[in-house]
Amino acid sequence: MIEMKGVWKAFGKKEAKVEALRGIDLSISQGEMVAIMGKSGSGKSTLLNILGGMMSMDAGEYRYNGKQVNGKSQKELAKFRRDEIGFVVQYFALAEDLNIFQNVALPLKSQGHSKKRIHEMVMEALGELEIAEKAKAYPSELSGGQQQRAAIARAIVKQPSVILADEPTGALDEVTGESVQEIFHRLNTKGKTVVIVTHDARVASGCERIIYLKDGKVEKPKGGEGGGL
Ligand SMILES: Nc1ncnc2c1ncn2[C@@H]1O[C@H](COP(=O)(O)OP(=O)(O)O)[C@@H](O)[C@H]1O
Ligand SMILES: [Mg+2]
Repeated sequence: MIEMKGVWKAFGKKEAKVEALRGIDLSISQGEMVAIMGKSGSGKSTLLNILGGMMSMDAGEYRYNGKQVNGKSQKELAKFRRDEIGFVVQYFALAEDLNIFQNVALPLKSQGHSKKRIHEMVMEALGELEIAEKAKAYPSELSGGQQQRAAIARAIVKQPSVILADEPTGALDEVTGESVQEIFHRLNTKGKTVVIVTHDARVASGCERIIYLKDGKVEKPKGGEGGGL
């Protein structure tokens, strides 16, 4: 489903130049649940942003379901993000001045759905995340775990095939983090491909496979542990 070969990405110029990704090769199959681990600054977020079509790359190849993503125009990339990708971040990124229903409805704007259909889709996503009763509440009225569930509802409301999450449990306490981890598991069981960047060894151990990044490269698995590509 996801195929990357020799992906490079640098920021800045000359002395200030940082090579965030230095030749990433990886492949992720449909329905997999994968963790990406590595030290701070190893390129995890950069990789996730490129996977989600949110950032361009300098060199290399990225294919999604066999189709080339590198080289797409901004407009095509926006469509790719909209149709295929659900994105979840550490600090939820909910709009504080919108209630939970309105936040989750945001990705459906300009997709031409009827009001009734939007209502159905949002309430289905909120139901799936078990926070339907918070539809009219504002983000500040929710706990961290509830806010993250609202953010996940917003990520899945368009029924994307892939969910990308950048440190989704990083701002949560242990117990809440575990329940968020269980949600990703459930979504994966229902067929979503899930890629989670995490520092949390327990979150990672709940995934089928761990990809380790070091200095912008994928570390080869040692002595049979982890395995895969
Ligand atoms: N927008 C940016 N501008 C300049 N440097 C950046 C930018 N984003 C990331 N970097 C640098 O690229 C490297 C990888 O960053 P990142 O992908 O955020 O790592 P991680 O998520 O593993 O902590 C770091 O050295 C970081 O400082
Ligand atoms: Mg990061």
